[in-house]
Amino acid sequence: MNIKKILNAKLHSAMICAGIPRQFPPLISLVKSAGFGDFQANGIIAAAKMLKMDPKELANQVVLEFECTIEVETIDVSGPGFINIYLSNQWLSKRLEWMLSDKKLGITMVSYPKTVVIDYSAPNLAKEMHVGHLRSTIIGDAQARLLEFLEYNVIRQNHIGDWGTQFGMLIAELDETLKNKQVSKIALKDLELFYQQSKKHFDQDDAFAANARSYVVKLQSGDLQIKHLWQQFIEQSLLHIDDIYKKLNVSLSRKDVMGESAYNHDLPLLVKELEEKGLALKDKGAIVAFLDEFPDKNNKPSVMIIQKQDGGYLYSTTDLAAIRYRANQLKANSILYFIDARQSLHLKQVFCLARKAGFIHENLTLNHCAFGTMMGSDGKPFKTRSGGVIKLAELLNEAILKAEKSINSKSLNLSPDERKNTAIKVGIGAIKYSDLSKKRTNDYAFNWDEMLSLHGNTAPYLQYAYARIKSLLRKSEKSINTVEGRIKIINEEERILAIKLINFDEVLNTACKEAMPHLICNYLYELSKAYMSFYEHCPILKEEVKVITQISRLMLCNLVARTLKTGLNILGIEVMDKM
Ligand code: ARG
Repeated sequence: MNIKKILNAKLHSAMICAGIPRQFPPLISLVKSAGFGDFQANGIIAAAKMLKMDPKELANQVVLEFECTIEVETIDVSGPGFINIYLSNQWLSKRLEWMLSDKKLGITMVSYPKTVVIDYSAPNLAKEMHVGHLRSTIIGDAQARLLEFLEYNVIRQNHIGDWGTQFGMLIAELDETLKNKQVSKIALKDLELFYQQSKKHFDQDDAFAANARSYVVKLQSGDLQIKHLWQQFIEQSLLHIDDIYKKLNVSLSRKDVMGESAYNHDLPLLVKELEEKGLALKDKGAIVAFLDEFPDKNNKPSVMIIQKQDGGYLYSTTDLAAIRYRANQLKANSILYFIDARQSLHLKQVFCLARKAGFIHENLTLNHCAFGTMMGSDGKPFKTRSGGVIKLAELLNEAILKAEKSINSKSLNLSPDERKNTAIKVGIGAIKYSDLSKKRTNDYAFNWDEMLSLHGNTAPYLQYAYARIKSLLRKSEKSINTVEGRIKIINEEERILAIKLINFDEVLNTACKEAMPHLICNYLYELSKAYMSFYEHCPILKEEVKVITQISRLMLCNLVARTLKTGLNILGIEVMDKM
């Protein structure tokens, strides 16, 4: 069990023995500054207030009731009634050895089988992927990997935009190009250009526009020839996103694609059901649901259109069908949506209506894991100089080029192949980490220099820290066998590092619960800093160091390396043994 939970339980029973009502929790947290224990409990103060007692005195009573066992060395009181807990070095050593022996570093896994559906990435296939898709893709992927690591049953759902009126225009254009004997692979080589070309065509040529509109109708009614054209378009577009995912080291694959088109057959049934249940009605030719739960400025219920006047369905209708599929077919216990914060009302409405209609079971938890916008250095949403969208493929290539430049000037002992591989891992890692390390609900400014720096809270810094430890371990491997060794904590830097290491469990579990990957980033950065200070103060391979001390320290190094690698891999960032 997680040490914080153990201490919490023990302290809670000591509090009860000291006469504090059960409802007061100990409120234990990890201590950041030295001298106040490894953990501190602040819960006594609130209890004392309620009981009209002196908090310091009450804290002393709790300390008297606390049973020190193997984990705890000492416990004392400080300030107005804080309880400080110091872990025993003996217990710390044992814990670290056990973590080292476990292939998952002793992390607490989910205690019962739980299925989590994650909706992320979900680009619209009409165009190329652009920077606006980056955050959902990488934050969602980190959460999927984290849940999987903690042994949840994870189902990824890539709710791609592969349906709707735009596709009429695109396939009408494709039809014409194919008639001119082009093959779709070539015609669709640049999706962005193709989109612009067909839009221009659509705006300028009435016959073409009419044709495009008729294609939408035909597509929806299942016309085979039109469907075939549509499939060719979708296939080329999916090849493009496959490439991006591969380059980004994102774990989405074709089997996770469950696009808007997949729900098409269910939409008429769904609308009918909502009407029958009295949750939707005809209004000016359209079918709408009124939701009192979300009143607008004038205190009128918000309106959610589920079928347009012309019979077409909307983004909301598809999301309602998707939620019902996920609950009933995928048997989700929880669904996480990694979607831009600006879609928050849309999701609230979908969740609310789905519950009212009984599309989902009561125990299903729904979470909109919203995120802010990626800004440029001018503080406005990130765009090209001329104000256009930045293609993701170009951004990623630029990152790799920049990383390559810096590697070529620094890492002189790598072969050309190693340099290339390292540049990919560093460049992509830098982009992902700079995003993941910011609290997702905030906007953040995109900054090349900052993300590629070898100093500070960046991917290159952590990757470099990892490579350095690996190099140290390689040097020692020839002479020292750590497998049977013991960890002994002697000085303060070792102790600080040890406490950091055992805290990985708590960090991963909290980051998972809150879907906040920046907590993992902060942790890995602090861990590396604690390692650097340990490395400076605790000699390892020097001749004068006793062999048992060498072994113990190498074991700590090994555990740090494995923790860094595990943490970064959960974030979808690769490490390398040399850099
Ligand atoms: N395709 C949408 C967009 O690009 C995002 C879809 C998100 N997922 C969902 N279930 N609505 O904005």
